[in-house]
Amino acid sequence: MTQKIAILSGKGGVGKTFTSLNLAAALSCFNKDVILVDGNLTTPNISVHLGAPNVPVSLHDVLKGKNHITEAVYSHHSGIKVVPGSIAYKSLNGIKLNNLKKALYSLDGLTDIIIIDGAPGLTAENIAILEAVNNILIVTNPELPALTDALKTIKMVESYGKRIRGVILTKTGNKDDITFENVEAFLGKKVLAEVPEDKKARESLVKKGILVNLFPRNKVAISYKKLAADLINEQYFEEPEKGFFERFFSWRKD
Ligand SMILES: Nc1ncnc2c1ncn2[C@@H]1O[C@H](COP(=O)(O)OP(=O)(O)O)[C@@H](O)[C@H]1O
Ligand SMILES: [Mg+2]
Repeated sequence: MTQKIAILSGKGGVGKTFTSLNLAAALSCFNKDVILVDGNLTTPNISVHLGAPNVPVSLHDVLKGKNHITEAVYSHHSGIKVVPGSIAYKSLNGIKLNNLKKALYSLDGLTDIIIIDGAPGLTAENIAILEAVNNILIVTNPELPALTDALKTIKMVESYGKRIRGVILTKTGNKDDITFENVEAFLGKKVLAEVPEDKKARESLVKKGILVNLFPRNKVAISYKKLAADLINEQYFEEPEKGFFERFFSWRKD
């Protein structure tokens, strides 16, 4: 059966799209067939991240009833498949959100996992996503505004009778971060992954690629691979590559 995982948040800019891309690529490292769907219909940008902003058929065309979703599935050289949104200014005109569930259901059995990158907040597009999925991950950062908005989103999701699988805490590692334990206590949810803040995130965007593929031993890549392994009940252990100072000190100790 195809697992459908929605990546949601309260606040924008917390790292949902980055997480969706990297989790999809990480699952693909474990030989899973993955389709990544850009469910942020208002401001889609997965196609921009992957260096192909304009596609002949987008999710918006599918929701307008013009095309079948299988016509909007593109293969990316990383190994994942992508259903991009349209970045056109008037792309929302004429879309029917209630076509989303049917469209995603028609991918059942054609792939192992569907990841859906959501919009921030409690929007109609996210409610349409909720109705179509069986797994929800909340992305947030270790700071109060992001956590407050995450809590509100958690309550909204649960008010629709949907269960949240857990939280992905990204951009961690700064000295004023709210601690892991306090994040779990505040949200009342398990933190499934902690993803450090790292400048390679920007570098992978500039290179129009996915960090997990471009820098596979970077600590961010390893966090997403650990999360992917957990989600599919696989064993995985890999040490992140050492930075210059860590290499220097481990050499001195030898
Ligand atoms: N672990 C990270 N380290 C550094 N920057 C990150 C990390 N995760 C995401 N970012 C950056 O944060 C910004 C917002 O991320 P994005 O995924 O677009 O957020 P959202 O989809 O939630 O709005 C982007 O510039 C992205 O590259
Ligand atoms: Mg986004």
